[in-house]
Amino acid sequence: MGPTDQQLQRRQYLEAMGIQTWQLRQPQSDTQTDPKSDIVQPAEEFLVAKLADSTPAIPRSPLNDDWPTLEAEIKSCTRCELHQQRTQSVPGVGNHNADWMVIGEAPGADEDKQGEPFVGRAGKLLDQMLLAIGLKRETVYITNIVKCRPPNNRDPKPEEAASCEAYLKQQVSMLQPKIILAVGRIAAHNLLKTDQRVGAMRGQRFEYADTGIPVVVTYHPAYLLRSPAEKRKAWDDLLLARRLMS
Ligand code: URA
Repeated sequence: MGPTDQQLQRRQYLEAMGIQTWQLRQPQSDTQTDPKSDIVQPAEEFLVAKLADSTPAIPRSPLNDDWPTLEAEIKSCTRCELHQQRTQSVPGVGNHNADWMVIGEAPGADEDKQGEPFVGRAGKLLDQMLLAIGLKRETVYITNIVKCRPPNNRDPKPEEAASCEAYLKQQVSMLQPKIILAVGRIAAHNLLKTDQRVGAMRGQRFEYADTGIPVVVTYHPAYLLRSPAEKRKAWDDLLLARRLMS
């Protein structure tokens, strides 16, 4: 029997991520195939933990509990020095009822110009990664650890991330996502208060603060553009996140 339209479309997305789908069937002991698709899934025993039946809700903040107010606050924020050189701040984009929250590092030049996160080359790859697990960009919520572009795309300083943290917490509190995907080192370090390498954090279920909301760490798409061989690992991370959701 030939592949279904859905399988063909999935292959297209994987190939857009730069993953050769013809290599995906590997009936080894540590993998299993999903009977409904031709994509290899990570074996169940490699998932560190499963999502508890009910994720405890985090208390909604009574302050500014609406998106336009929060976005306006972020737009006019002067809490750290990053406001001095920005074209505009970049609060976040997407569905305010999203189950998935994607958190990156900081806006780059394209994002600073357009006022939207992940719109440059890395953003295009992020879109393809999400599509590969059936998620259109507009169905998730995307934001960054810091909302203003650091000059010359340097790493955000700890004090800049700290100044912005209340905004991120508010976004998580209003969204109450079922899963957070932390893309890259800066996102993982700030969300999980650790300094472990991304490679060491992948493949595990973490939680955001005391919320019970699961966090999966994966490589930043900008890194994947430089190191396409790692895309298979990012694909595994997306599958883990999807499993923790379901
Ligand atoms: N990289 C990020 O981490 N965030 C963006 O919004 C764009 C590039």
